[in-house]
Amino acid sequence: MADSTNRAATFLDKGGTGKTTSAAHLGVALADEGEDVLLVDLAGKQGDLAKHFGVWDDVQQQIDNDDDWPNISTVFAEEWNQIASKLGDAAVESLIIETEEGIDLIPAHPGLDSLDADLGNIDDARERYSRLEQFLDEYIDGRYDTVLIDLPGLTNNVSYNGLWATRNVIAPVEMGPFESEQAAALERDLEKIADRFNVDVELAMVLPNKVDTRTNLASEYLNGFGEEYTDAIAPAHIPVSQDIRNAADEGQTVFALEEPSTTAERARDAFLHNATELQRRLGDVQ
Ligand SMILES: Nc1ncnc2c1ncn2[C@@H]1O[C@H](COP(=O)(O)OP(=O)(O)O)[C@@H](O)[C@H]1O
Ligand SMILES: [Mg+2]
Repeated sequence: MADSTNRAATFLDKGGTGKTTSAAHLGVALADEGEDVLLVDLAGKQGDLAKHFGVWDDVQQQIDNDDDWPNISTVFAEEWNQIASKLGDAAVESLIIETEEGIDLIPAHPGLDSLDADLGNIDDARERYSRLEQFLDEYIDGRYDTVLIDLPGLTNNVSYNGLWATRNVIAPVEMGPFESEQAAALERDLEKIADRFNVDVELAMVLPNKVDTRTNLASEYLNGFGEEYTDAIAPAHIPVSQDIRNAADEGQTVFALEEPSTTAERARDAFLHNATELQRRLGDVQ
């Protein structure tokens, strides 16, 4: 059991770059290294992380049976503290699903749909952005070694809660011109938070994903990112691998594949390497 809990969020103001994939694979890699890991899905009601671990049907069934309280959207509500303190550990435990790949998960919920607007109704900005932090501080810290939060691919009140609570961003980037702009925009966003609220959010890892080094352009971008983000760049890039996509469709990470392809093995090694480095970086900045 953890003395202190490290936190990080996968975030980039863009869809499809590998936020969910990275949260899932870094989580399993950390668990393989012996850590207790919790993943939290704030990325939207479609439940991508639960699908990634093959448990979405169960979640869906609970929702259909009206057996879906509490859920991830409830922990943001003003009443949460009152109710949870009455119910004790049971309230938190009923949020969490155990998966077959060794990580625990708080899945997404349809309530996430209106969460951004609900948070927008809170007048005080600090209160509006710190609800998730309050929940993690109070109910999750000490239960896990690492908490990874998967955020929406856009800047809103929900993603601000994730950044605020974790103070550490993992930004998966594809090798293209838009991603370098997005990464620069992310840095500006983090600076804005620091200026306005005196909350330092670190760019813990810029993680090149879907890299195809057979093309010169990809290699050029890879070098470019390495030079631009000397401290934050991940030690290993993630190759483009059809196995990653196929495994996800089957509700697995590539760590669960019995006959991984060469690219899937490379992806595994890269995620393991990056997980070790992430551990070190999160430990350092806490
Ligand atoms: N390294 C990779 N190789 C091949 N496909 C990938 C890789 N990383 C992610 N994908 C696929 O790309 C799509 C988008 O990834 P996802 O993690 O869902 O992005 P995001 O969460 O940022 O929107 C998914 O279908 C996923 O399986
Ligand atoms: Mg996603």
